[in-house]
Amino acid sequence: MKILVLGSGAREHAIILALRAEEDAHDILAAPGNAGIAQDATIVGVDPLDGAAVTAFANEHAVDLVVVGPEAPLVAGVADALRERGIPVFGPGRAAAQLEGSKAFAKRIMESASVPTGRAVHAATAEEVEAAFDELGSPYVVKADGLAAGKGVIVTEDRAEARAHAAQYLPTGPVLVEEFLSGPEVSLFFLSDGDTVRALSPAQDFKRALDGDEGPNTGGMGAYSPLPWLAERFGSEEAFVQQVTDEIALPVIRQLDAEGTPFIGLLYAGLILTDKGVRVIEFNARFGDPETQVVLPRLRTPLSALLLAAASGTLEDQPRPEFSDDVAITVVLASEGYPEAPRTGRPIEGLEDAAAVEGVRIVHAATAGPDAPGGSLIATGGRVLNVVATGSGFRDARARAYEAIGRIRLDGAHHRTDIAARVAD
Ligand code: AMP
Ligand code: GLY
Repeated sequence: MKILVLGSGAREHAIILALRAEEDAHDILAAPGNAGIAQDATIVGVDPLDGAAVTAFANEHAVDLVVVGPEAPLVAGVADALRERGIPVFGPGRAAAQLEGSKAFAKRIMESASVPTGRAVHAATAEEVEAAFDELGSPYVVKADGLAAGKGVIVTEDRAEARAHAAQYLPTGPVLVEEFLSGPEVSLFFLSDGDTVRALSPAQDFKRALDGDEGPNTGGMGAYSPLPWLAERFGSEEAFVQQVTDEIALPVIRQLDAEGTPFIGLLYAGLILTDKGVRVIEFNARFGDPETQVVLPRLRTPLSALLLAAASGTLEDQPRPEFSDDVAITVVLASEGYPEAPRTGRPIEGLEDAAAVEGVRIVHAATAGPDAPGGSLIATGGRVLNVVATGSGFRDARARAYEAIGRIRLDGAHHRTDIAARVAD
C-alpha cells in the first residue's frame, strides 16, 4: 500500500515503524516528519493542516490510505476533505474530533450516552469558578476547554493556584471545573470505523514532569504496556477491556453516529479506575503519545489492514488485534526547561550507541538535521526522543531503556527515572 502519515512526532514515528515491521512492504510517505521519520519514510512537502493540499497530493500520488497522527489536522477538517473525495483516511472529521477539541462537547456526548465521568461545572467568570470550587471542593481540577497539548489541566489543593490557572484561560472562553477523581490511570485505544470498535492493549502514561508524579503536567514523559495489575482488579485484562468497550467506547461511538457525525479513527479513552468504578477523564481523537510507542511494538496483527478497515467501514471483517506477551516501556528524553520553556537547537549525540542496546528502538519526537553529512541531529522541541524497550518482563525492559537513555547526550536534557518501576519487582 501507499500510505501517507501526517504529523511530526514520536507517535507518527512509532506508527511508521509498526507499518514497516509488517511482512508486506509498504510505500510510506510522511509530512512533515522529523529527522528520525526521514530514515524510515519518504518526507513529502505538503502542509498537513491544509485539507485541499493533502487531498490534491493524495490524488496525484495515488495514495491508498492517509493516517492522521495529531489532533490539529483533525480539528482543522483535513479528514473531511479527504473523505469527500473518497480517499480512505484514518482519522475523524472535524465534528467528531470535537470529542477531543472541546471538553464541553465531550461532556455532552458522555451525558447523552450515559458514560461514567467526573461531575463538571462550566465556569465563564471568576465568580463562577469560585462557586464551582465551593461546590466540588479540594483538590481542585481546572481544565481549559480547547486543545492545550496536555498543559491545560491543573490538579491542586492550593486554591490560589487553581484560581490563577483558571484566570489564565478565562479570557479565551469558559473553563471546566471538575470533581477530583482518585485512582490509577489507564489509556485504552479503540480503532473505530464509525460503527464497530476494536480495542488495543491498555497502557499507562506518566503525565507529570518529575519522578514520583511531581511537577507540572506534560504531554507525557513515559509509558508502559500491558498493565499487569488490571488482572488483580478485573480478573483479566480481557475482562477490563470488554467492560470499557461495552460501557464507554460503544455508547460513545453510537451516540456520535446517531448525531450524524460518525467517529472513524482512533478513540482514545483516558480513564481513572476509582473505588466507585471506571471513569472517563478525557477522550482524544487520535493515538496517544507516548502510549502508542509501547502499544504498537506489541501488536502482532498487521496495523495497515486494521487502519484501512477502519477507514473503509469494514472493521467487523477483521480479526481482533493480537498482542505479544512481551512488555514494552518508553522513556521520554525532554529538553531543558520542558514543559514551561524548552531550550531547543542543541545537538544530540550517542543515538547509534543507544540503539545498539538489545530490544531498544529510538523513536524521534522533535529532531532535525544533520545540516552537513556526519553532523549531529538537533533537538527542535520539548519532548525530543523516546527510548522504547521491549523485553520478556518489566525488569528487563527497564534495564534496557535506561541503559540506552544513558548513552544519549543532549545538554540539559531530563527524563523520569521511575517509568514502570512499580511493576518491575
Ligand atoms: P486531561 O488533559 O483531561 O487528560 O488531564 C490531564 C491529567 O490531569 C490526567 O491525566 C490526570 O492525571 C489529571 N486529571 C484530569 N482530570 C482529573 C480529575 N477529574 N481528577 C483527578 N485528576 C485529573
Ligand atoms: N499521552 C496523552 C495524550 O496523548 O494525550
